[in-house]
Amino acid sequence: MSKGAFDIPWIKELTKLISSKLHDNFEWLGVPQHGGGIRLLDYACGNGIVSMALSPFITEAIGIDLSPKMAAAYNALSESQNLSTKLSAIEGDLLSPSSTLRDPKFFNFDIIVMSMALHHIADAQLMIEKLQTRLRDGGILVIVDWLSMGLGVPPTEGGDRNEHEGEEDGFAKEAKLKLAAAAHVVAHWGFSKEEMKALFENAGMVDVGFMDGIEKSKVPAEMNYEQQMFIAKARKVRNH
Ligand SMILES: C[S@@+](CC[C@H](N)C(=O)[O-])C[C@H]1O[C@@H](n2cnc3c(N)ncnc32)[C@H](O)[C@@H]1O
Repeated sequence: MSKGAFDIPWIKELTKLISSKLHDNFEWLGVPQHGGGIRLLDYACGNGIVSMALSPFITEAIGIDLSPKMAAAYNALSESQNLSTKLSAIEGDLLSPSSTLRDPKFFNFDIIVMSMALHHIADAQLMIEKLQTRLRDGGILVIVDWLSMGLGVPPTEGGDRNEHEGEEDGFAKEAKLKLAAAAHVVAHWGFSKEEMKALFENAGMVDVGFMDGIEKSKVPAEMNYEQQMFIAKARKVRNH
Protein backbone atom coordinates (compact mmCIF):
# COMPACT_ATOMS: atom_id res chain seq x y z
CA MET A 1 0.00 0.00 0.00
CA SER A 2 1.31 3.42 -0.82
CA LYS A 3 2.41 5.58 2.09
CA GLY A 4 -0.30 8.05 1.05
CA ALA A 5 -3.05 5.52 1.74
CA PHE A 6 -2.12 5.48 5.41
CA ASP A 7 -2.77 9.21 5.64
CA ILE A 8 -6.40 8.76 4.63
CA PRO A 9 -8.25 9.10 7.95
CA TRP A 10 -10.67 6.17 7.62
CA ILE A 11 -7.85 3.86 6.56
CA LYS A 12 -5.76 5.03 9.52
CA GLU A 13 -8.67 4.19 11.81
CA LEU A 14 -9.23 0.82 10.13
CA THR A 15 -5.59 -0.23 10.39
CA LYS A 16 -5.56 0.86 14.05
CA LEU A 17 -8.64 -1.27 14.67
CA ILE A 18 -7.15 -4.32 12.92
CA SER A 19 -3.88 -3.94 14.85
CA SER A 20 -5.52 -3.52 18.24
CA LYS A 21 -8.02 -6.37 17.81
CA LEU A 22 -5.31 -8.82 16.72
CA HIS A 23 -2.88 -7.68 19.41
CA ASP A 24 -5.40 -7.60 22.25
CA ASN A 25 -6.95 -10.96 21.35
CA PHE A 26 -3.87 -12.98 20.54
CA GLU A 27 -4.84 -15.67 23.07
CA TRP A 28 -8.26 -16.02 21.38
CA LEU A 29 -6.54 -16.89 18.09
CA GLY A 30 -5.45 -20.15 19.74
CA VAL A 31 -2.07 -20.56 18.05
CA PRO A 32 -0.66 -24.00 18.93
CA GLN A 33 2.31 -24.03 21.28
CA HIS A 34 4.97 -26.58 20.44
CA GLY A 35 8.09 -25.17 22.04
CA GLY A 36 9.63 -24.14 18.73
CA GLY A 37 8.52 -20.51 18.64
CA ILE A 38 5.71 -19.02 16.59
CA ARG A 39 6.12 -18.36 12.87
CA LEU A 40 3.66 -15.99 11.17
CA LEU A 41 2.90 -15.67 7.48
CA ASP A 42 1.43 -12.22 6.83
CA TYR A 43 -0.13 -12.88 3.43
CA ALA A 44 -0.96 -9.91 1.16
CA CYS A 45 0.96 -8.05 3.83
CA GLY A 46 0.85 -4.49 2.53
CA ASN A 47 3.30 -2.54 4.64
CA GLY A 48 3.02 -4.97 7.52
CA ILE A 49 0.48 -3.75 10.05
CA VAL A 50 -0.45 -7.32 11.01
CA SER A 51 3.17 -8.36 11.54
CA MET A 52 3.82 -5.23 13.58
CA ALA A 53 0.76 -5.84 15.76
CA LEU A 54 1.69 -9.47 16.43
CA SER A 55 5.45 -8.96 16.71
CA PRO A 56 5.51 -9.18 20.55
CA PHE A 57 4.07 -12.72 20.39
CA ILE A 58 6.01 -14.30 17.54
CA THR A 59 9.51 -15.44 16.76
CA GLU A 60 9.44 -14.66 13.06
CA ALA A 61 7.12 -13.10 10.47
CA ILE A 62 7.35 -13.44 6.73
CA GLY A 63 5.32 -11.06 4.63
CA ILE A 64 4.31 -11.92 1.08
CA ASP A 65 2.65 -9.43 -1.26
CA LEU A 66 1.87 -9.41 -4.95
CA SER A 67 3.29 -5.91 -5.12
CA PRO A 68 7.06 -5.47 -4.91
CA LYS A 69 6.40 -1.91 -3.72
CA MET A 70 4.41 -3.22 -0.77
CA ALA A 71 7.08 -5.80 0.12
CA ALA A 72 9.66 -2.99 0.03
CA ALA A 73 7.44 -0.76 2.20
CA TYR A 74 7.08 -3.63 4.70
CA ASN A 75 10.86 -4.08 4.85
CA ALA A 76 11.41 -0.34 5.25
CA LEU A 77 8.95 -0.21 8.15
CA SER A 78 10.43 -3.25 9.89
CA GLU A 79 13.91 -1.75 9.44
CA SER A 80 12.78 1.56 10.91
CA GLN A 81 11.45 -0.29 13.98
CA ASN A 82 14.68 -2.31 14.36
CA LEU A 83 12.71 -5.47 13.62
CA SER A 84 14.32 -6.47 10.33
CA THR A 85 15.87 -9.66 11.72
CA LYS A 86 12.40 -10.80 12.80
CA LEU A 87 10.07 -9.34 10.15
CA SER A 88 10.82 -9.49 6.42
CA ALA A 89 8.77 -9.54 3.25
CA ILE A 90 9.09 -10.64 -0.35
CA GLU A 91 7.06 -10.22 -3.48
CA GLY A 92 4.96 -13.29 -4.27
CA ASP A 93 1.60 -14.78 -5.18
CA LEU A 94 0.44 -18.15 -3.88
CA LEU A 95 -1.97 -18.39 -6.82
CA SER A 96 1.00 -18.54 -9.21
CA PRO A 97 3.94 -19.22 -6.95
CA SER A 98 7.52 -18.64 -8.07
CA SER A 99 10.10 -21.34 -7.35
CA THR A 100 11.25 -19.22 -4.39
CA LEU A 101 8.00 -19.99 -2.61
CA ARG A 102 8.80 -23.72 -2.74
CA ASP A 103 11.56 -23.20 -0.17
CA PRO A 104 10.69 -24.96 3.12
CA LYS A 105 10.87 -21.65 4.96
CA PHE A 106 7.58 -20.71 3.28
CA PHE A 107 5.78 -23.71 4.83
CA ASN A 108 4.83 -24.91 8.32
CA PHE A 109 3.61 -21.61 9.67
CA ASP A 110 1.92 -21.66 13.07
CA ILE A 111 -0.36 -18.80 12.05
CA ILE A 112 -1.26 -17.18 8.75
CA VAL A 113 -3.16 -13.89 8.58
CA MET A 114 -4.66 -12.46 5.40
CA SER A 115 -6.02 -9.02 6.20
CA MET A 116 -8.28 -6.96 3.92
CA ALA A 117 -7.22 -8.81 0.80
CA LEU A 118 -9.44 -11.88 0.31
CA HIS A 119 -12.13 -9.67 -1.25
CA HIS A 120 -9.67 -8.88 -4.04
CA ILE A 121 -9.32 -12.56 -4.98
CA ALA A 122 -11.77 -13.94 -7.54
CA ASP A 123 -11.38 -17.57 -6.40
CA ALA A 124 -11.48 -17.12 -2.63
CA GLN A 125 -11.86 -20.89 -2.08
CA LEU A 126 -8.65 -21.63 -3.97
CA MET A 127 -6.84 -18.98 -1.96
CA ILE A 128 -7.97 -20.52 1.35
CA GLU A 129 -6.74 -23.90 0.13
CA LYS A 130 -3.36 -22.47 -0.93
CA LEU A 131 -2.97 -20.77 2.44
CA GLN A 132 -3.86 -23.94 4.30
CA THR A 133 -1.05 -25.88 2.59
CA ARG A 134 1.37 -23.38 4.15
CA LEU A 135 0.23 -24.11 7.73
CA ARG A 136 1.65 -26.71 10.04
CA ASP A 137 -0.86 -29.31 11.30
CA GLY A 138 -3.01 -27.64 13.95
CA GLY A 139 -2.00 -24.18 12.70
CA ILE A 140 -4.40 -21.25 12.53
CA LEU A 141 -5.61 -19.33 9.49
CA VAL A 142 -7.02 -15.87 10.22
CA ILE A 143 -9.01 -13.87 7.69
CA VAL A 144 -9.73 -10.20 8.32
CA ASP A 145 -12.24 -8.73 5.89
CA TRP A 146 -15.57 -6.96 5.51
CA LEU A 147 -18.86 -8.57 6.27
CA SER A 148 -20.97 -8.66 3.10
CA MET A 149 -21.98 -5.21 2.04
CA GLY A 150 -25.32 -6.37 0.67
CA LEU A 151 -24.53 -5.01 -2.75
CA GLY A 152 -24.90 -8.25 -4.71
CA VAL A 153 -22.15 -9.60 -6.93
CA PRO A 154 -19.60 -7.19 -8.44
CA PRO A 155 -19.85 -6.82 -12.21
CA THR A 156 -17.67 -9.30 -14.07
CA GLU A 157 -16.99 -7.37 -17.27
CA GLY A 158 -13.53 -5.88 -17.53
CA GLY A 159 -11.62 -9.14 -17.20
CA ASP A 160 -9.55 -10.40 -14.34
CA ARG A 161 -10.23 -8.49 -11.16
CA ASN A 162 -7.46 -9.54 -8.85
CA GLU A 163 -4.44 -9.85 -11.08
CA HIS A 164 -3.49 -6.20 -11.38
CA GLU A 165 -4.44 -5.06 -7.92
CA GLY A 166 -0.96 -5.33 -6.51
CA GLU A 167 0.59 -2.67 -8.70
CA GLU A 168 -1.52 -0.09 -6.98
CA ASP A 169 -2.63 -0.08 -3.47
CA GLY A 170 -5.90 -1.81 -2.68
CA PHE A 171 -6.81 0.56 0.15
CA ALA A 172 -6.02 3.65 -1.90
CA LYS A 173 -8.17 2.40 -4.74
CA GLU A 174 -11.02 1.53 -2.43
CA ALA A 175 -10.82 4.99 -0.96
CA LYS A 176 -10.86 6.76 -4.29
CA LEU A 177 -13.15 4.83 -6.54
CA LYS A 178 -16.82 4.19 -6.43
CA LEU A 179 -17.46 0.52 -5.79
CA ALA A 180 -18.93 -0.10 -9.21
CA ALA A 181 -15.96 1.46 -10.92
CA ALA A 182 -13.64 -0.53 -8.69
CA ALA A 183 -15.04 -3.81 -9.96
CA HIS A 184 -11.71 -4.63 -11.56
CA VAL A 185 -10.03 -4.66 -8.15
CA VAL A 186 -12.81 -5.91 -5.89
CA ALA A 187 -13.94 -9.47 -6.53
CA HIS A 188 -16.37 -9.72 -3.60
CA TRP A 189 -18.25 -7.08 -1.64
CA GLY A 190 -17.17 -8.83 1.53
CA PHE A 191 -18.33 -12.21 2.86
CA SER A 192 -21.18 -13.32 5.08
CA LYS A 193 -20.23 -15.39 8.14
CA GLU A 194 -21.87 -18.39 6.49
CA GLU A 195 -19.80 -17.91 3.33
CA MET A 196 -16.60 -17.52 5.30
CA LYS A 197 -17.34 -20.61 7.40
CA ALA A 198 -18.04 -22.61 4.23
CA LEU A 199 -14.78 -21.43 2.65
CA PHE A 200 -12.85 -22.79 5.66
CA GLU A 201 -14.85 -26.00 5.97
CA ASN A 202 -14.77 -26.81 2.24
CA ALA A 203 -10.99 -26.69 2.59
CA GLY A 204 -11.26 -29.26 5.41
CA MET A 205 -10.55 -26.80 8.22
CA VAL A 206 -12.14 -27.03 11.68
CA ASP A 207 -12.83 -24.96 14.83
CA VAL A 208 -14.12 -21.96 12.88
CA GLY A 209 -14.69 -18.89 15.05
CA PHE A 210 -15.49 -15.18 14.69
CA MET A 211 -14.13 -12.57 17.08
CA ASP A 212 -16.82 -10.74 19.07
CA GLY A 213 -16.99 -7.05 19.88
CA ILE A 214 -15.56 -5.46 16.75
CA GLU A 215 -16.81 -1.91 16.28
CA LYS A 216 -18.21 -0.79 12.93
CA SER A 217 -15.89 1.28 10.73
CA LYS A 218 -16.64 4.65 9.18
CA VAL A 219 -15.95 4.41 5.45
CA PRO A 220 -16.52 6.71 2.45
CA ALA A 221 -20.01 7.30 1.07
CA GLU A 222 -19.21 5.06 -1.91
CA MET A 223 -18.91 2.20 0.59
CA ASN A 224 -22.20 3.05 2.32
CA TYR A 225 -20.67 5.19 5.16
CA GLU A 226 -20.35 2.33 7.65
CA GLN A 227 -19.07 -1.21 7.30
CA GLN A 228 -18.50 -4.09 9.68
CA MET A 229 -15.14 -5.78 9.68
CA PHE A 230 -14.79 -9.39 10.82
CA ILE A 231 -11.88 -11.44 12.12
CA ALA A 232 -12.39 -15.13 11.44
CA LYS A 233 -10.19 -18.08 12.36
CA ALA A 234 -10.01 -21.78 11.56
CA ARG A 235 -7.62 -24.59 12.38
CA LYS A 236 -5.85 -26.98 10.03
CA VAL A 237 -6.64 -30.50 11.16
CA ARG A 238 -3.96 -32.49 12.89
CA ASN A 239 -2.81 -35.64 11.10
CA HIS A 240 -2.66 -38.51 13.57
C1 LIG B 1 -6.00 -3.53 1.12
S1 LIG B 1 -4.34 -4.08 1.09
C2 LIG B 1 -4.18 -4.84 2.71
C3 LIG B 1 -2.75 -4.87 3.19
C4 LIG B 1 -2.55 -5.44 4.60
N1 LIG B 1 -2.84 -6.85 4.66
C5 LIG B 1 -3.32 -4.67 5.65
O1 LIG B 1 -4.26 -5.21 6.24
O2 LIG B 1 -2.95 -3.49 5.89
C6 LIG B 1 -4.44 -5.50 0.01
C7 LIG B 1 -3.07 -6.06 -0.37
O3 LIG B 1 -3.28 -7.33 -1.02
C8 LIG B 1 -2.23 -7.50 -1.97
N2 LIG B 1 -2.66 -8.57 -2.89
C9 LIG B 1 -3.71 -8.58 -3.73
N3 LIG B 1 -3.80 -9.77 -4.38
C10 LIG B 1 -2.78 -10.53 -3.92
C11 LIG B 1 -2.34 -11.86 -4.19
N4 LIG B 1 -2.94 -12.64 -5.09
N5 LIG B 1 -1.25 -12.32 -3.53
C12 LIG B 1 -0.60 -11.54 -2.65
N6 LIG B 1 -0.97 -10.28 -2.34
C13 LIG B 1 -2.05 -9.77 -2.98
C14 LIG B 1 -2.09 -6.10 -2.57
O4 LIG B 1 -0.87 -5.90 -3.22
C15 LIG B 1 -2.26 -5.20 -1.34
O5 LIG B 1 -1.01 -4.90 -0.74
